[in-house]
Amino acid sequence: MRPSCTLQSAVKTFGGVCAVDNVTLSFPFGMITGIIGPNGSGKSTIVHGMSGVVPFDSGIVHIGGIALPISSPYDAYQRGICRTFQEVRVFEHMTVRENLLLMLAQRTIGGSLCEHTHTTLTKKVDDALSRVGLDGKQHEYAEKLSYGQRKLLEIARILLLDASAVVLFDEPFAGLFKVSIEKVREIILELKDQGKAIVLIEHNMELIRELSDHLVVMDGGIVLAQGIPHEVLSLPRVIEAYIGK
Ligand SMILES: Nc1ncnc2c1ncn2[C@@H]1O[C@H](COP(=O)(O)OP(=O)(O)O)[C@@H](O)[C@H]1O
Ligand SMILES: [Mg+2]
Repeated sequence: MRPSCTLQSAVKTFGGVCAVDNVTLSFPFGMITGIIGPNGSGKSTIVHGMSGVVPFDSGIVHIGGIALPISSPYDAYQRGICRTFQEVRVFEHMTVRENLLLMLAQRTIGGSLCEHTHTTLTKKVDDALSRVGLDGKQHEYAEKLSYGQRKLLEIARILLLDASAVVLFDEPFAGLFKVSIEKVREIILELKDQGKAIVLIEHNMELIRELSDHLVVMDGGIVLAQGIPHEVLSLPRVIEAYIGK
């Protein structure tokens, strides 16, 4: 079996709602695992739990066979997991460029003293800006960006965070124009080629079919089906729960 990041027996409840109900999933490195499902089926809750933003009530993440408790975003980052948000979270009163420079702030004394020169940081930010096509907007305040541009800023942050193991994308294409979809698509494929486990939550079936190596369908907090995308998408229970609606 391919080495993977595994989520085992994850549970998350909100009051009386069981958003994720004992879910076990495997996300192989160097592959894209698509997750689809109706609104409210628990997709984002999985990403929140694995990224430590809203930790699971119970459940464990294994990376390469090692169990890793994730109780904060910092834990997740330390374990090589990073994510984008469905509802983009950026620093509104900072410029696009400042939002990105912040990602590169060194968190150790050694790092801050010698690891990066100003020129290296500047170049990394310039590269990320041009990859997502936000070069022209770099001095704008984030609050002035359109919905799609905010999404692109998040993708640029992902590039700079440079997670070593897993990248979780929560509806990265929503609100993007065709040209930006193409840029994000290329970035996702590049991260996959680097050997990362990619998790892609997406409603656009064309993109899901094209990009996913493995497809998971969620419904009501459980895994309704999973497998090869075209096979999963033709299962009657999947059509009934999701596509037929
Ligand atoms: N912070 C929260 N407080 C209360 N209920 C929540 C919260 N987050 C998610 N839920 C509920 O959990 C369920 C799953 O939500 P979510 O994971 O966001 O679904 P999806 O991403 O598949 O649309 C929904 O019923 C939603 O209302
Ligand atoms: Mg969601």
